[in-house]
Amino acid sequence: MPAVNYRLEGEVAVLTIANPPVNALSLAVREGLLQGLQRAEQERAVRAVVVTGADGTFAAGADINEVASGLVLQSPITREVQAQMEAGTKPIVAAIEGVALGGGFELALACHFRVAAASARVGLPEVKLGLIPGAGGTQRFTRLAGPQAALEAITSGAHLPAARALELGLVDELAEPPLAGALALARRAAAEGRPLRIASDLSERIRDVSPELFAAFRRRLEPKARGQLAPWRIVDSIEAACTLPKEAAFAREREYFIECRDSPQRQALVHVFFAEREARKIPGLGAQVSALPIRRAAVIGAGTMGAGIAMTFANAGIPVSVLELSGEALERGLSLVRSNYDGSVARGSLTRERAERALALIQGWTGYQALGTADIVIEAVFEDLKVKQQVFARLDQEAAPHAILATNTSTLDIDAIAASTSRPERVVGTHFFSPANVMRLLENVRGKHTSPQTIATVMALARTLGKIAVLAGNCDGFIGNRMLMFYGAQAEFLLEEGATPEQIDRVMEGFGFAMGPLAVRDLAGNDVGLAIRKGRRLPPDERWSPILERLVGEGRLGQKAGKGFYRYEGRTRIPDAEVLALIEGVSRDLGIQRRQIPDEEILDRLLHPLVNEGARVVEEGIAIRASDVDVVYVNGYGFPAYKGGPMYWGRQAGLARVVQTMRRLAPTHGARWRPAPLLERLAASGKGWND
Ligand code: NAI
Repeated sequence: MPAVNYRLEGEVAVLTIANPPVNALSLAVREGLLQGLQRAEQERAVRAVVVTGADGTFAAGADINEVASGLVLQSPITREVQAQMEAGTKPIVAAIEGVALGGGFELALACHFRVAAASARVGLPEVKLGLIPGAGGTQRFTRLAGPQAALEAITSGAHLPAARALELGLVDELAEPPLAGALALARRAAAEGRPLRIASDLSERIRDVSPELFAAFRRRLEPKARGQLAPWRIVDSIEAACTLPKEAAFAREREYFIECRDSPQRQALVHVFFAEREARKIPGLGAQVSALPIRRAAVIGAGTMGAGIAMTFANAGIPVSVLELSGEALERGLSLVRSNYDGSVARGSLTRERAERALALIQGWTGYQALGTADIVIEAVFEDLKVKQQVFARLDQEAAPHAILATNTSTLDIDAIAASTSRPERVVGTHFFSPANVMRLLENVRGKHTSPQTIATVMALARTLGKIAVLAGNCDGFIGNRMLMFYGAQAEFLLEEGATPEQIDRVMEGFGFAMGPLAVRDLAGNDVGLAIRKGRRLPPDERWSPILERLVGEGRLGQKAGKGFYRYEGRTRIPDAEVLALIEGVSRDLGIQRRQIPDEEILDRLLHPLVNEGARVVEEGIAIRASDVDVVYVNGYGFPAYKGGPMYWGRQAGLARVVQTMRRLAPTHGARWRPAPLLERLAASGKGWND
């Protein structure tokens, strides 16, 4: 099979990209397109051209393996194919089904006209790989749809539904099937001798654009894209489209593309991309193990997490029953769900119709009778082992015999929970993150007896729910929260030694975390943090800082109390002299001489323990591979994706440095802070996680 199929439909040459699974624009595809276009141009019987994709999709983008190599692509590159399109004399129409993304959409944008299926999605998601579109995407998009739409869509990497693309002028017609519509349009254009519409020559939308438009957008982008390269270069490139002559603007896009392609951020983001795919692979889980179909679900507990988990199922079109202890608690939970949906509708991220459809899939109950038909039950009651064991004993009796019983526990022992049932092979952890309907991570946790089918089911379920799953082993805190203990504890030790909350948060936010560790504590609630800490089993030589307990003692519970590590006016945090006095009191009581702490020390002492504990997690088999740890931290804990996750970052920063930090920490903080044996071995040999 050639990568591009050439056939005639009367006077129209149809070029079909056939490069399964997603019609990526590999070298063979680019060659096939170029040859097909040249042939159509030469053949006298051909009066127009349609470009489309096989198997229900146009093209999902460049070949990711070529992108990942970071090397200069082999000729013909996409821009040469586009040049041939724009130099041609016959109308070229793109017929878009499925997706036209990245390089695929850039190709479509160089056609004279675009016809899409209503269900198609188009967009330029390069930013997610640390890149800017490099084949004229920022230029043609801007000339067709105007700078404001281009800024929003390309800096976010959004996939636009066809109807929106039509509204923006990126697509000319919607048709079912799009190929028929494209053929008709191609014939009409040829018969009428319609002028060929070359997007890169359009100028109406880019004329007289106020510089203020870019200034305002940059201000809006700042909190989201601080520290990143690609989003800013996208803005620069769109601005170039509006201010420079065409050739210079295209050249500028090219320069920015190369700058991004060669940046460490692009490498880190490509690492995350592959790590997320790799995380789906579970060694020992053969192809003969098939996932159980999940047609109905049930959630126990309609609190913060239960409500969000129910929404997650409903959003994926799976009917879900929600169980609560009382009608009152149930009503509270369901109204939380409703107000969340109302919020999404008000923000425009969901249509009223889709919200109603999802809501109709969620049913509330105060008894267990609803469980009989659920294929999976997810428990999200209080974090208390006894309560959970009681709930599981009851679930075991009430749920269908084939049903999987899952717990959303963030720290408790899965085996101890499974032991209260007669089906431990069907018990598993499904650890969602808050807010569950938004956060993309699902940390699945396998117990001693969890069966391969149960694991296969919850891994497949994650994809159905639009989540990224990582499989963890059973231990206190699993992968994510176990590592986090060291990060959180160290922040407080630094406070004792002389740092301030605002210094620590500033340094970590400067590194790229959305929020620093103490701001996060205030958000989650210091009483909650303290309760979790008290539930932990600590080795005898390890200690906690008393700061958290003292804050709680003074009613400084966090944002909900208007004060915690900071004072709050609305959501704005304000450094508070009272907190500093409290911290200084702790230092005094502990006999610690406070000192000026350099920013760099803060960064090392918070991040190196993460890497170190990550190494233990890998060595003990709690994580299957180091890159799974990165997936957990990037998707669940706000670690900046453009730094690749803690393990990737640690390797770049130098594992030997991490070992040094840990050697310094262990004598004062306890044996758990010693360098992980795996880390010491790798640091000594100069090897990386996978060498
Ligand atoms: P929550 O306190 O908001 O909700 C718990 C709900 O369970 C309450 O509405 C309560 O009435 C209900 N409940 C208690 N016993 C029940 C029973 N026997 N039958 C039916 N309903 C019952 O708690 P939250 O924050 O939603 O946490 C739930 C679980 O999720 C905990 O295990 C927690 O560790 C875990 N988790 C929490 C996260 C968070 O950020 N809040 C993140 C990830 C996991």
